[in-house]
Amino acid sequence: MIGKDIAYAASLLAEGKLVAIPTETVYGLAGNAYLPDSVAAIFKVKQRPQFDPLILHTDTLEKIEKLVGEFPPEASILAKALWPGPLTLVLPRAPHIHDLVTSGLDTVAVRIPAHPMTLSLLSQLEFPVAAPSANPFTYISPTRPEHVQQQLGAKIPYILDGGSCRVGVESTIVAFPNGIPTVLRKGGTSIETLQGLVPHIQVNTHSSSKPQAPGMLDKHYSPRKKMILGNIPQLLDSYPNASLLTFQDNYGITEDRVWVLSEKGDLQEAAQRLFEGMRALDASDTDLILVELLPEKGLGVAINDRLRRAASTE
Ligand code: TXA
Ligand code: MG
Repeated sequence: MIGKDIAYAASLLAEGKLVAIPTETVYGLAGNAYLPDSVAAIFKVKQRPQFDPLILHTDTLEKIEKLVGEFPPEASILAKALWPGPLTLVLPRAPHIHDLVTSGLDTVAVRIPAHPMTLSLLSQLEFPVAAPSANPFTYISPTRPEHVQQQLGAKIPYILDGGSCRVGVESTIVAFPNGIPTVLRKGGTSIETLQGLVPHIQVNTHSSSKPQAPGMLDKHYSPRKKMILGNIPQLLDSYPNASLLTFQDNYGITEDRVWVLSEKGDLQEAAQRLFEGMRALDASDTDLILVELLPEKGLGVAINDRLRRAASTE
């Protein structure tokens, strides 16, 4: 069921049930992080392998401080400047955080999401919620309540309807391996914004053999259809009937097999429309999606990361 009843969502979570919640990035599949059965149910509903740890969500810095062992100074700077917002911090875990949440790691991922309904929901709870994106493992993340309904609706009792997600790509994940601030996943907070606050922050070039953040798996965020990345006019010569996912231009194709991310070239609008476009084209009646990269700056970095993974055949 889809609805806007925050108190009902709170009561379901307290009972150990799962609820899909809106955030500014994507919809999350939330469960009570202090009930191991709820956390186990998240993995089951998503068909997610248990080696892929979850993010804890709550509404205040005071509550976050109880979930982690310590806050390095750079983490404090980022948290104070950017929360609530599309940033996840990976920090040493407090002893009471369950192994199922962290996949047995000695760190835990935490974030305060910037969505008014979810902040209100979280303020009513005496526990954090564990919430991965509310999509089946490796499929495209949901940015509207209907996306969750289509894929997980039969498996969960409630979807809290907070409309379309404003940011549209997942949070940026920052960890502190050996004390060095390091971006593990590019996302809704740009690298430029992070560098403005912590100039020496590193960006992890990804290794697929042992993903540090499994959003780093090569094959991820993927439509079921094949996606090919490249120069659209050239690709169209070879595949004239394919669907197109483009930045600003429709390349003369006006049918519903083209999804333009932002006619005016706005990267924020493009991020917001990205996953919805991938879903729409996945449902259209062509069997191939041609896609082009966006400018590699600001949110374009996170968008391109998603496009490369979606087009990956590994
Ligand atoms: O925007 C978001 O972050 C959304 C919304 C719902 O908050 N959530 C989200 O969750 O994208 P999920 O589970 O799809 O991605 C979480 C990522 C995974 O790649 C996971 O490996 C990584 O966070 N992660 C979680 N705990 C970690 C830890 N202790 N160390 C390293 N990576 C961790
Ligand atoms: Mg995900």
